[in-house]
Amino acid sequence: MPSAQVIQTKDDAIYTTSNGAPVKEPYASQRVGFNGPLLLQDFHLIDLLAHFDRERIPERVVHAKGAGAHGYFELTHSLSDITSAKVFQTVGTKTPLTIRFSTVGGESGSADTARDPRGFAIKIRTEEGNLDWVFNNTPVFFLRDPTKFPHFIHTQKRDPQTHLKDGDMFWDYLSQNPESIHQVMHLFSDRGTPDGYHSMHGYSGHTFKYVKEDGSYVYTQIHVRVDQGVKVLDNQKAVELAGSNPDYGVQSLFEAIESKKYPSWTVYVQTMTPEQAEQFRYNVLDLTKVWPHKEFPLRPFGKIVLNENPKNYFADIEQAAFSPSHLVPGIEPSADPVLQSRLFSYPDTHRHRLGVNYHQLPINKPVVPVANFQRDGPANFDNQGFRPNYPSTLSPLQYKQRPYEAKWLKHERWLGHANHDLSEVTELDFEQPRVLWQKVFSDTDREHYVSNVSGSIKGVKNKEIIGRQLRVFAAVDQDLSNRIAKAVGHPTVKPLEVKPAHEAVRFKINE
Ligand code: HEM
Repeated sequence: MPSAQVIQTKDDAIYTTSNGAPVKEPYASQRVGFNGPLLLQDFHLIDLLAHFDRERIPERVVHAKGAGAHGYFELTHSLSDITSAKVFQTVGTKTPLTIRFSTVGGESGSADTARDPRGFAIKIRTEEGNLDWVFNNTPVFFLRDPTKFPHFIHTQKRDPQTHLKDGDMFWDYLSQNPESIHQVMHLFSDRGTPDGYHSMHGYSGHTFKYVKEDGSYVYTQIHVRVDQGVKVLDNQKAVELAGSNPDYGVQSLFEAIESKKYPSWTVYVQTMTPEQAEQFRYNVLDLTKVWPHKEFPLRPFGKIVLNENPKNYFADIEQAAFSPSHLVPGIEPSADPVLQSRLFSYPDTHRHRLGVNYHQLPINKPVVPVANFQRDGPANFDNQGFRPNYPSTLSPLQYKQRPYEAKWLKHERWLGHANHDLSEVTELDFEQPRVLWQKVFSDTDREHYVSNVSGSIKGVKNKEIIGRQLRVFAAVDQDLSNRIAKAVGHPTVKPLEVKPAHEAVRFKINE
C-alpha cells in the first residue's frame, strides 16, 4: 500500500456545529427513548448530514485526476526587450505560484501512470494580476480546430450504453483526423507515461504574443524544462503501477517536497518576429507543429521551484481554477483558434464547477485588489463594499490603458470570407512526425513505440479502423506502419494520400 506521509498537527480547536456552538459528542444522535425516532431539533445531526450530502463538486470534465503544490517563479534573465509584463522585468524577482499536474481522460480516481498527455497548469501571482500558464507535457496537440475537442474527448470517456472505455472509439477518431499524428507519435513513445509529475517538461503549445510598450511584439512559445531530468516508465511498469499504486504521481510529488527534494524547472522562451512568422514553413497558429530549436533557439529566463505541499488538497488544488485567458499586460493571446476557444471554455467551466464567484476563493484570488462592477451571486465573500455597481462619475474608478493598446488595436486587421477548413491535412502534417520516427527516436524508442501502439490497437474490434490508422502511420513512414501491421496481424497497407502543402495553409498577418 502507498505510504504517503500525513502531516500531524496538534489542534486545540473545540468541536462545534457550523454556527460555532460547542458540541460534546461527535458520534451521538438524539432519539426518543431507546427505540423511538430521531429528533428534528438535533441540529448537530442535521448540520452534519446536510453538509455531507453536498460534499462533492463536479470533477473537471477533463484533467480530473491531479496533484499539485506551491512554489515560486524566479526571473533569471530579463525579458524587457520583448514584453512590458512587470513579472519579467527585474532579474531576481520571485513571484509565488501554484502548480497542478494532471492526466487528461480518466476520472478523478484513475491511475496516474495512464498513457495520456499530462496537464501542467501554473498560476503565477503577479503584481498585475494572475498569469496562468495552462500547459501540457507535450509541445503539440491532437487538433487545430476546437470543434473537434469535445468529440475527441468523448472517445476517451465511457460508452453511453456499456459504460465501458472503448479503444475502438479512440482509434476511430484518430484515424479519421490524421492531423493528430504528431501528438500520437509523442503519446505512444515512452514519454506518454512519465515517471511521476516532476520528471517531465511543460510546453505552452500555443503561440502567444509578447508585447512591448511601443506596441511592437514577437510570437512566443514557452518551454518549462525539468531540472531533475526527464524520467519515463516503460509500458509494462506503467501498467503494473496503475494496479499496485494508482496514486503513484500524487505520492511521489508529495514525498519529494516533504523530504525537501524540491523539484525545479528552467523556463525558456522561443521568439519569432511577425516577419519571420510569415516566412516560417509552418503556420504559427497551428499547434500540431513545433518551432525547430535550431531556427528559433531556446532562451532561458526563469526558474520554477516547488517547495510547499498543499495544506489542504481540496482548498489548494481541487478548487484552483486555471485559464489561458488569465493574462497580464504585455502578454496577449495569438489568433490560434484552439487557444481562442480555450479563452472562453475555462472560465465558463469554472462557473459551473466552482460557481460564478470562483475567482474569490482564496487559491484563485489575485494578490492585487480586484475592482469592477460584478456583484452578488452565490458564495460571494468580497462584494466590493460600498463601491458603486456601475461606472459612476460620482465615485469613479481609475482606468488604466495598456501602454501599447492604441497602436496595438490598429495593428491587426483580419478580413476574409467565412471559412471552416481548419483541418485540411497536407504533407506538412507528416514532416515533423517523420523526423521523430526516423531521426530522433533510438532503436529502443522505435521498438517500444511499435509495441505501445500495437498493444493498444490490437484490442480494436473493427478492422477498418485499424487499416485506416495504419495508412496514417504509413504516411509517416512505411516501415513504421508495416511493423505495427505485423505486430497486430494485419496486412500491410499503402500510405494515406495527402495533398501537397500549399499557400492557403501558411500564416499571413492582415489577410
Ligand atoms: C483542463 C477545455 C485544449 C491544457 C480543461 C478543462 C476544460 C478544458 C473544460 C477543465 C478545467 C476545469 O474544470 O478546471 C479545453 C478545450 C480545449 C483544450 C475546449 C481545446 C479546444 C487544451 C490544450 C492544452 C490544455 C491545447 C495544453 C496546451 C489543460 C490543462 C487542464 C485543462 C493543463 C487542467 C487544468 C487544471 O489543472 O485545473 N481543458 N482544453 N487544454 N486543459 Fe484544456
